[in-house]
Amino acid sequence: MDKENTYDALIIGSGASGLSLALRLADHARVAVLSKVALNEGSTLYAQGGISAVLDAQDSLESHIEDTLVSGAGLCNPDTVRLVVSQAKDCIDWLLERGVAFTEVENGDHAHQLHLTREGGHTHRRVVHAADATGRAVESSLEKSARAHPNIALFEYHNVIDLITSRKLGLGGPQRVLGAYVLDAKRQQIHAFRARVIALATGGASKVYLYTSNPDVSTGDGIALAWRAGARVANMEFIQFHPTCLYHPHARSFLISEAVRGEGGRLLLPDGSPFMHRFDPRGELAPRDVVARAIDHEMKRLGADCVYLDISHRPADFVRSHFPTIHARCLELGIDMTRTPIPVVPAAHYTCGGVLTDHAARTDIEGLYAVGEVACTGLHGANRMASNSLLECLVFAKQASQDILDRLAEIPPCPALPEWDESKVTDSDEEVVVSHNWDEIRRFMWDYVGIVRTDKRLQRALHRAELLKQEIADYYGNFRVTSDLLELRNLVIVAELIIRSALLRKESRGLHFTLDYPGHDDSRPPENTVLTP
Ligand code: FAD
Ligand code: SIN
Repeated sequence: MDKENTYDALIIGSGASGLSLALRLADHARVAVLSKVALNEGSTLYAQGGISAVLDAQDSLESHIEDTLVSGAGLCNPDTVRLVVSQAKDCIDWLLERGVAFTEVENGDHAHQLHLTREGGHTHRRVVHAADATGRAVESSLEKSARAHPNIALFEYHNVIDLITSRKLGLGGPQRVLGAYVLDAKRQQIHAFRARVIALATGGASKVYLYTSNPDVSTGDGIALAWRAGARVANMEFIQFHPTCLYHPHARSFLISEAVRGEGGRLLLPDGSPFMHRFDPRGELAPRDVVARAIDHEMKRLGADCVYLDISHRPADFVRSHFPTIHARCLELGIDMTRTPIPVVPAAHYTCGGVLTDHAARTDIEGLYAVGEVACTGLHGANRMASNSLLECLVFAKQASQDILDRLAEIPPCPALPEWDESKVTDSDEEVVVSHNWDEIRRFMWDYVGIVRTDKRLQRALHRAELLKQEIADYYGNFRVTSDLLELRNLVIVAELIIRSALLRKESRGLHFTLDYPGHDDSRPPENTVLTP
């Protein structure tokens, strides 16, 4: 560690967004990257389907833009969509230069080109992938490059507690970020880190739901950190439920990629009959909100525990070679997907809203950036299209790096920061409160703020969130922090932001569906839900 923990840039998060940003900055700046667990752990590692990019001669940027806008149900920012889509090829080339081994096919002349798969909402094949483990290929290449770079300091098991801003220190002038208090979870010590700029790259918040495709780190920390520091957040009601997570008592958070449907997989009811054609002419390849709601509807109508995803009509070799990870995991659990349908259910998958940012990934607070799933850039609107997320991480890491490098020289070094004060807290004698509250939040969010909502259920959830927030604040004020407590404190804020945003939207749009207002509100142009601390 640097003697005074002082860096040009402090990046909180080491997924696709954090590591890309670090690598883009590191030739010109001293960078620290923090990860609250092992460096490679995060949603990026588990990404399956791929990264969308227009690479096929039959495809066009206009078509990718149009598909993204359609999925986003009227709430995407068209300028952001164009910016992101038009930089996709450049970002794929950047990953290839860093050694990411994407799946290739022979193009006829013994030459190779990238294989493109298809997913929901896309009208063309445009998803670049590494078989069905794209995230692992991306994360491991970026990790290798970051570990080798002399200007990047990596801090694993370092959990950010709070941002330190000029306002918190009582300094005058515009509100700017100066550093962060960080729990070194292995040594149980708390340090202040200082930096000229800080980037939140903390991923999403899907762990706020009982059932999720996400790893444990997705507790919305960056959203809560920014909110407590005074930055606006937007569109938190748009939580994406992935239609097909594996349903099995021993399978925790395992996704069955949308690419399985892209390659011909059919959704079936327990009696073996197809149903998606009854809900949308695009069938299995309708956008995710439509497919997840259709499955939820059929499960509730029939009282079924799950539906089934069947790709057994495709040749077994094809299935094994395209989906080696999914095939192997299913087989471990006794399901041979080359012969039988896979039991699946929807689960919370992606946070479309987040910290409000501009095209340079800047937030409301001077010096504070947000990149990746933590941010709300305007790309996804009311529903993210498949494989647009990794793309967003890469594009906004590039945008942020350019802005940071342009401005770094003008930013004054940050002043000395006060040490963390532990004089008023003791060790907890009732850890059970933390685990109980974790479970309670995740369960009421699933039951009352899930795929289908009503105002009454949302009000019930809000009441519980407010009570828990108070209880957690009392606990935080009295006891020494642990990683579980820090996450719980963030989780309850994120839950409240989702509920409040959902209550403000008096219509159904994209991923927000409420029985009280089942259609779009066409009386005025669609608006983002922006919350101000
Ligand atoms: P993450 O990769 O989640 O990384 C978050 C980082 O922040 C971690 O390093 C974590 O330790 C750190 N962190 C968080 N809080 C703190 C804190 N308080 N202190 C310190 N560090 C902290 N998208 C696609 O485009 N294509 C796909 O095929 C695809 N498949 C997916 C499959 C699965 C199973 C899942 C879960 C998601 C998938 N997604 C996919 C979505 C996509 O993977 C994520 O949106 C994206 O990887 C997010 O990257 P990120 O860098 O923003 O965050
Ligand atoms: C998947 O492979 O189905 C996930 C793709 C995504 O979330 O973009």
